[in-house]
Amino acid sequence: MLDRSIGIFDSGVGGLTVLKEIASLLPEENLLYLGDTARVPYGTKSVETVQRYALEAAEFLVAQGVKLLVVACNTASAVALPLLRERFQLPVIGVIEPGARRAAQSRNHRIGVIGTEGTINSHRYPEAIYALLPDAEILSVACPLFVPLAEEGWAEHEIARLTAIEYLQPLLTAKIDTLVLGCTHYPLLCNTLRRVFGNAVVLVDSAEETAKSVQQLFRSQGLSRLQPGGRRTFFVTDVPARFIRVGEAFLGKSLESVEQVQIG
Ligand code: DGL
Repeated sequence: MLDRSIGIFDSGVGGLTVLKEIASLLPEENLLYLGDTARVPYGTKSVETVQRYALEAAEFLVAQGVKLLVVACNTASAVALPLLRERFQLPVIGVIEPGARRAAQSRNHRIGVIGTEGTINSHRYPEAIYALLPDAEILSVACPLFVPLAEEGWAEHEIARLTAIEYLQPLLTAKIDTLVLGCTHYPLLCNTLRRVFGNAVVLVDSAEETAKSVQQLFRSQGLSRLQPGGRRTFFVTDVPARFIRVGEAFLGKSLESVEQVQIG
């Protein structure tokens, strides 16, 4: 049982930001990653469609015998978490609660949230932040072009910077001290966002907080793998070339085992 993998999924390369943090905090764990690259982006699709995609991705991972499911996608976490918890008999961790916890540490209580249209329209981040910080002032902006830019490997391109300035103008004038990167693709644009916001604004990447939640859960439920040296296995639903190129650049290591699979 303890030897079983942690199953992690996203629509594409974005969830690798979560995998990276889990791998660095829990290097002994076996990690199994699914990028649903044939159907990316999730963020522009309807709630029903994202729920179906999330169920199919989770079913695939559960069939591999994982011990925990990490929904490394804000869009799927926003609309499908209760459904997944209901359907599967294993712990399911999403990325919104962990990110909201970190955002609630804002000093001036003025918080920006950026994400896909699906995540922003769900209002899950403001709900989760208000629950912890009732007087927060929250400004939310959808940035749909960030996902294709990240998938293309253009996260640090001048086009990404100009796109960010266009989307984020309202946040630049709103005196926020905290910006929630409410999409797991967005940490790939971290350097670009830093160039736009400078160093005064805290960029909240829920990946780190999510990895801590996994660690806490494993400690409290005795689920940790005990041998050193966890395996990392990657699955994608479309040809792997682009995933490998962008993923390797991001993780800084070669992705040896990336297999194309069909789900659903
Ligand atoms: N990375 C995902 C998220 O956190 C999905 C982005 C997308 O496919 O639109 O929302």
